Parts: sequence; C-alpha cells; structure tokens
Amino acid sequence: MKTTPAVPLLFAASFLLSAAALAADSAATLRLQVDLAAKGKAISPDLVGVFFEDLNYAADGGLYAELLQNRSFEYSATEQSNWGPFFGWDLIKTGDGDGQLGLGDARPVHVNNPHYLLLTVLTAGEGVGIANAGFDQLPVEAGKGYEASFWAYQPFMGLKWGGPGPRADQSKPMPVTLQLQSKDGRVLAESRLAVSGRAWTKYSVVLTPNQSAAEARFVLLAHEQGGLALDMVSLFPRDTFKGRANGLRRDLAQVIADIRPKFMRFPGGCLVHGSGVRAYYDWKASVGPVEQRRAQRNLWGYHQTLGMGYFEFFQYCEDIGAKPLPVVTAGVCCQHAGDSPGRGQEGLPLEEMPAYIQDVLDLIEWANGPADSKWGAVRAAAGHPAPFGLKYLGVGNEDAITPIFKERFQMILDVLKAKHPEIVVVGTSGPFHSGEDYDNGWALVRELGVPMVDEHYYVSPQWFWDNLARYESYDRKGAKVYVGEYAAHDQPKTRSTLRSALAEAAGLTSFERNGDVVQFASYAPLLARRGHTQWHPNMIYFAANAVYPTINYQVQRLFGHNSGDNLLPAALEGVPAGVRLTSSVVRDSASGDVIIKVVNGEDRSFSATVSFASASAGERRLMATVLTGANADVANEDGQPPAAAPVTDESKVGASFAREFPANSLTVLRLRQ
Ligand code: AHR
Repeated sequence: MKTTPAVPLLFAASFLLSAAALAADSAATLRLQVDLAAKGKAISPDLVGVFFEDLNYAADGGLYAELLQNRSFEYSATEQSNWGPFFGWDLIKTGDGDGQLGLGDARPVHVNNPHYLLLTVLTAGEGVGIANAGFDQLPVEAGKGYEASFWAYQPFMGLKWGGPGPRADQSKPMPVTLQLQSKDGRVLAESRLAVSGRAWTKYSVVLTPNQSAAEARFVLLAHEQGGLALDMVSLFPRDTFKGRANGLRRDLAQVIADIRPKFMRFPGGCLVHGSGVRAYYDWKASVGPVEQRRAQRNLWGYHQTLGMGYFEFFQYCEDIGAKPLPVVTAGVCCQHAGDSPGRGQEGLPLEEMPAYIQDVLDLIEWANGPADSKWGAVRAAAGHPAPFGLKYLGVGNEDAITPIFKERFQMILDVLKAKHPEIVVVGTSGPFHSGEDYDNGWALVRELGVPMVDEHYYVSPQWFWDNLARYESYDRKGAKVYVGEYAAHDQPKTRSTLRSALAEAAGLTSFERNGDVVQFASYAPLLARRGHTQWHPNMIYFAANAVYPTINYQVQRLFGHNSGDNLLPAALEGVPAGVRLTSSVVRDSASGDVIIKVVNGEDRSFSATVSFASASAGERRLMATVLTGANADVANEDGQPPAAAPVTDESKVGASFAREFPANSLTVLRLRQ
C-alpha cells in the first residue's frame, strides 16, 4: 500500500505511555483549538451504518416479527440433530379427543415449501389440534391484535379409509378454533372458522387477547373426525415497525433505527457465501409470497425461513433512511464450508457462473428496474413499484483470495462494470486487518480497479488505540474503505465493557479523521437473542419481550447522531505520549453545527481549554453529551439500570472555555449554529 500522509500528524493523538510519564503529565492542561471558519476536508457523510446478519437468531426469532417457530414444518435434523418437522409443535387432544400428526410432501402448497402437516382427527372430543409456544417464549399484550393465519386444505372427512359405517360426508367443512392461551390453559382470545375444499387456501383471523401473558401459546383445534393439511401456520403481531405486513418487531427495528444508520449491509457475513458451494444465500428464494420462499439451513446451524427476505431488507432500509448494501457471494463458498475449517473453499463450476452472474444482474433489475421490467415487476407486485435506488453491492465476504476466488470475482466484476457502471462494487480483503488475504485482497482490488473494499477486524481494545493512524497511510486516490465488521473484544468476550466501547469510539474518531478514505463502518454483529447467542460480543441483545442495548450501542448511536461531512483541522494538543486520549472535529453542513468528540480511555480525567478561532462575539449554545461509567470494566446488564448511559446538558459558551474529560469517557460537544 502506498503511503500518502493526507492527514496532519496533529491528528494522531494516541501513543504508548509509561506509568511514570503519565504521572508526570497528570497536571497538564490540554488545548483544543477549532477554527470555525476553516474550509476543512470533505469526508463521508455516511460513515455510521449497520450490518445485519441472521446469526444468534437475529432474523427468525428476532427482528422478523413472526411469533411461531417452525411455521412451515421444514425444521430438519440437518440443522440440529434433535430437530424434525414437528419441532416446536405439540399434539393437543381435548375432552376425549384423539388424533395424530403426519408429515405430508405429496401435494405441497408450493414446490419451494415441500413439507406440510397432516392432522388426523380420529375422535373429535372437544377438539384435536396443535400448539406452538414460539421461540422459547411467546409474549402477548392485552388489547393488541395478532393475525393468526394458516394455509390448509381438506384431504378427507371421517376416517381416511372409511370405517364399518357409512362413508363420511366429504362435502362437510372442517370446523376449526384458533386460540391464544395462557401457560396454564386459560383462553385469552379465540376465533372460529371452517376449512373447506381441496385447494390450498389461506385462512386468517385477528386474535386480540383480553389479558397480557409473558408465556402464551397458540392453539389450533379441529372439531370433526377427518383430516386437515396445514402449512404456514403463523401468528404475527399487527403492531409491526411502521405497520408493515410481514414486517419487523417494532422494538428491535426501532432501536436499530435510533442509531440513524446511513446504510445497512445484509444479509451477512458468512451467511452469504454459505457452507457449501450451492448453499449460498439465494436472494431470489427470499422474495415473493412468503409461502413460496425456499427456507434453508442457516450457516450458523439453525433454520432461516427467509420470511425476512430481500424485500423486507430493502423496505426496512427505506423506512429508516439507510442506503441498502446487499452482499452476494463471489461464486465461492466459505473457507470453512463442509465442516472443513480453513479448507472448505470451493468455486461454482465455471459453466454455472453465467447463470449465477445473471442472478446478480437480476437483483439489480429487481431493486432498480422499472415496474414493468421482469424483475422490477416482482418488486412492484410486493407493493413497491418505485425503484429502491440500489447503489452499492458487496461481492464476496472474508474470502480466501485464491485463484478460484479471483477468477470468479473478476467474472462478476467485469459484467457489472460493463452493464451497471452506476453500481459501486465492494470487494473483500479477507477476515483480518492484515495478513495474506488482506494483502492479496488489496492487491486484487488495485489490479482490477475495485472502487471499495470491505475490511474486517475483531481485535482487542488496545488494538484500536494502537492503530489510530492506520488509515493515514492509505492511498487517497485508491479504493475507498468500508470497515464492514469491527468490534473490540474485551475479556471475557461475553462482556460488552465500557473499555471495549471506548476503544470502538476511538476507532470511529480515526475513521472520521480519515473520512476521505473510510466511507462506511459497521459494528458486528448487530443482534443476539439471549439463549441463542453463538457469537459474543454483539451490539444489541434481546429476549422475547425485551431489548438490551450495550454500551457499544450507545457509542454507535452517538456517532450516528453526530456525524459530519467536513473534517476540521483540529485535535487535542499536549496529549502525553501513549495516553489513550483522542479526538475528532467535524462540521455538519446541513445544520452548520460543529461537533467535537473526545475519547478518554484512561482511568483518570483530563482537562482541556477549548477555544474557537473565527468565532463571532457572543455566546453560543453547546450541547454536551458524556458517556461514562464507574470504571472501564462496567457493562450494561440485562434488565438493570445501565452502568453507562449518555447524559446530555446544554450550556452557553464563549470563544474559549475549560472542559473536563472524565476518566473512561466519550464526550460529544455539539456547538449549535
Ligand atoms: O459477524 C459475524 C461473522 O464474522 C460474519 O459472518 C463473518 O463475516 C465474520 O467472520
């Protein structure tokens, strides 16, 4: 990589420090001089975004608002050894009812949705049916509407092969009751309907519970001797984010939106390229009517319904004002695929590449094409005739930069350059911040003229402090950088400490200072459901009815709310060598506000004199937000008052004022225009 120092050394504000030097400088007062009239340097206005991957039950059982688990009876032992098509479902017999569950595949609701449930009622009693308690827990709220729906047909009435008596009347509909029940069996909501006919038909009612319950269950009962074929048995809150049908869990979608992310990368991660060469995430299987989507084994070892698919991702991006950044495989699978750690990369056979590349072109048409184009029509049929305005497309994720990869990546890139020069392709530089794949990935990017590169690093907090100058040596005329996955991993990794959050904040100031190169950055992973967490740490933890943002989330939110598009040439002066103290100063052109961020990663406070050159006479409004805690080890514990939360106050300041930067803190000073 060429070394072109484009940012003054003034910006490098963090060096190693011996304890003796720290003690000697402890009384020093620092200076921060900001020239409000300075032209500054244009930086990315889109720095802070989010990266969504269906890991840790982030989609099904997470952001996707569906409340029932295994709604289409597609769970399988290939996903988890104790799973099968009836996982999550109980056979219910009431009164002296009797019946059984069978699995059908002969006459599916759609070829992409191959299995369904065959419920046989031998003796009706007071009803025979099925129950589902959701993903570990199914909370319902009194007075809120829940859409209970299912697809069904009537294979037979009476006994399948008839009994000794007269054959049952096959024209009779099957009466069905749908209920929400409390854990102890009290009926909270109920509705009745009848299933009739041999055609697969969708039935739906709204259930409104008369009481809240933290652990409810959904029950479907059939009331006549006979059979019932059932699929896509679903319970969906009506109160989704922005009220979207087939939408997202409101609280989780809102907490992400509250970051004000400027972009969203999806659907992964390793999930994209999959654990086998044809097991990649197929965007086409994720759009269209939900009952026609092809669920698949998730690379992270569970089931993904694709109910939250490309349409829902793009819709969510639009709803929160984030630019969509989908990622497609570069025609290779994960390097750990096929249970072969580090040795699993395989490429699609070259003769399959043209069809695969056509899928990528179709994605662009689906997102951006007119409503009367082949794929634009699919988007329009889903309720979005206007194009989504796709501009960025990731190709590859953390791939080993092998000849197999290079050949396929170039094939895709060449076609995209020729047919869609308006699309910014984001390449990959492997899984680490340095090393073979990083070097080879960057070499390939330079060779092929790829406009943007996705870098990933999961590292110690100290690594961030030691690498604040990383991007100063990057070629200003070369590819832009997308720090697509990063996080500071403290010890133990299960704890999202203040120390880790401040290290990320320090990293973010360095991204801002180098915002002419670093275009985007997204913490990873975003979401994790308690009890189904495969990876630590994550930005936001959640349960069935609660959301637990970490301190790291607060850092993302503060940077998301206080971004700028212009870097002012100012930094803390007088910082003793090695002290974990760094800053950035940006201007937001839209508001005219100047925003100073100071990160103090030391166990002691520092005071500084902040002064504004070119300031007009008189006082200005200063909003000061401080994120700090009792010490660097604190973490926000589930359901407890936060150990560290941002606190904001507003004051008036003149052209110069003194400011204390507390031990272990992020301070955001927003000078209002
Ligand atoms: O963020 C979790 C995983 O980390 C991603 O899937 C992958 O890209 C990286 O290894």
